[in-house]
Amino acid sequence: MKAELTATDQAHLRRALELAEGGRGRVSPNPLVGAVIVRDGEVIGEGFHAELGGLHAERAALEDCRSRGEDPAGATMYVTLEPCAHQGRQPPCVEAILEAGVGRVVIASDDPSEKAAGRGPGILRDGGVEVAFASGAEATAARRLNQPFRKHARTGLPFVVLKMAMSLDGQTTTAPDDSPWISGPESRDLVQKWRAESDAIAVGIGTALADDPLLTARIEGARQPKRVVFDSQARLPLDSQLLQTLDQSPVLVITAPDAPADNVSTLKSAGAEILVAPDIESALRELGRQEVTSFFLEGGRTLASAFVSANQVDESRTFIAPMLLGRPPSSAPRAGGTVGGAMSEEALATGRHGGSPAVTGPARQVALWSSTKTIGNDTLITSAFKEW
Ligand SMILES: NC(=O)c1ccc[n+]([C@@H]2O[C@H](COP(=O)([O-])OP(=O)(O)OC[C@H]3O[C@@H](n4cnc5c(N)ncnc54)[C@H](OP(=O)(O)O)[C@@H]3O)[C@@H](O)[C@H]2O)c1
Repeated sequence: MKAELTATDQAHLRRALELAEGGRGRVSPNPLVGAVIVRDGEVIGEGFHAELGGLHAERAALEDCRSRGEDPAGATMYVTLEPCAHQGRQPPCVEAILEAGVGRVVIASDDPSEKAAGRGPGILRDGGVEVAFASGAEATAARRLNQPFRKHARTGLPFVVLKMAMSLDGQTTTAPDDSPWISGPESRDLVQKWRAESDAIAVGIGTALADDPLLTARIEGARQPKRVVFDSQARLPLDSQLLQTLDQSPVLVITAPDAPADNVSTLKSAGAEILVAPDIESALRELGRQEVTSFFLEGGRTLASAFVSANQVDESRTFIAPMLLGRPPSSAPRAGGTVGGAMSEEALATGRHGGSPAVTGPARQVALWSSTKTIGNDTLITSAFKEW
């Protein structure tokens, strides 16, 4: 039941949302959750889910409360996600809330997981706790906080964020003798942060060959994402930086069913994981099974177009850099390899790459919402195409 909350309730929920951010990049596949306990207008406990397998926000807040010498009995708990009722990596939160005698629980968003979906709030109500769900800005913020968790819970698929950098004339590739960077250093720092917050990062073989990227998150102490290359013919070179740094994080090569067996076994022997997938959705579904909830697609343009045509982009983050690059040489490789280039007419017609051929993809996708920000000299446009 949605309730009209007071301005004080909303302020405490906003604080809980702020606390939830503390777990970003550390709790996946779990959600980000924050909790605040308030009695007689005074905050007596705060907590958040800080790491996978660690205390849930509700228990962390109750523990904080006790460590301050406060008794949570009769207090109000503000929590950004409905408290769980199932035994997972941690015991059910509703038990701790009932045991503590909390009088009222204000919840910012539902948990769409099959094992949750209202069970926790129901148990709390049966136990005599007053339960209120937020609506409005705090409810929206709480849902947006956990888009990867929510999509994964509802569909089994990871939440896909497409990142692109482009010049003012719409180019995404620089000339072979030019710097490979389009966006500025501040934008690239932000990309490192996004990598650290993602479960997996992906590029097409065209980018792997042209740029020989590392795809790690260069941030001290960051959890390293799984690195994924869409490489239908298993062409990733053994001396690529990706395969030379398997000690830093795994590399998954997604191949087509018709990939040459020799190439596949060579990559396997080099330590790459192989996933044979007939299309993009099957690949994403398998990644979802592996508990990848957030998937950061770094390009290039060919793979990005295939994801758009397959209707598999949930959010885009596009940097526009104040420069003109002119028309890129059509298939000129950067030093180090052959560029995959654009998909051939045949591939588009047959859908060999699995990205649904452009003709069957959605004609136009208009963002549900968009925001614009200045990052150094660049402009960052963030757009959401689906909300979960
Ligand atoms: N500006 C940016 O944000 C940005 C980001 C990344 C890269 N780049 C630049 O983009 C250039 C490379 O872009 P690109 O478009 O040539 O290559 P790409 O998109 O990185 O890779 C395309 C290749 O991926 C393979 N692939 C596997 N599965 C696919 C599928 N389902 N759909 C489509 N392709 C699939 C295909 O090669 P196979 O047939 O061999 O499988 C295809 O040719 C580089 O110069 C790089 O520097 C720019």
